[in-house]
Amino acid sequence: MATHASFMPGVKVQNRVWTWLTTVDHKRIGILYGTTSFVFFLLAGLESLLMRVQLARPDSTLIGPQAYNELFTMHGTTMIFLAVMPLSTAFINSGRRLPAAERAQLLALSSRRSPLELRLAPRHGP
Ligand code: HEM
Repeated sequence: MATHASFMPGVKVQNRVWTWLTTVDHKRIGILYGTTSFVFFLLAGLESLLMRVQLARPDSTLIGPQAYNELFTMHGTTMIFLAVMPLSTAFINSGRRLPAAERAQLLALSSRRSPLELRLAPRHGP
């Protein structure tokens, strides 16, 4: 299976960075998501550190109220949208794919039957 997009068919791509940037392999894409998530997790951690230092002493003038509010927004947004959400995609992408036949079977079952019906239905029924 091809693991990177071929913009120029016939030309073999040697550059390692380029193969990562153009990969279509779901596990590698998952690793890219995980790395991105970790980088933003550290960045949001730095933001929270600044807030903690500001709050460590009363009436601290380290960053001031306006910058504190901005950091609050950036820390929350960075953590949720740029760290937690890509992390879930990283785990989803790195999972093992079921063989096509099993996927089709599961899809057909789940679209037609409720969980209770699935539990009660005979294994090899129609
Ligand atoms: C998974 C998401 C998040 C993680 C892992 C996280 C992690 C942290 C950590 C480790 C601290 C330092 C705590 C301390 O110094 O006592 C912190 C501080 C803080 N976080 Fe978050 N955070 C997340 C989401 C959010 C969100 C969504 C908001 C608000 C919209 C938020 C607002 C704050 C504030 C105001 C502080 C400073 C409070 C303080 O230090 O006493 N965080 N966060």
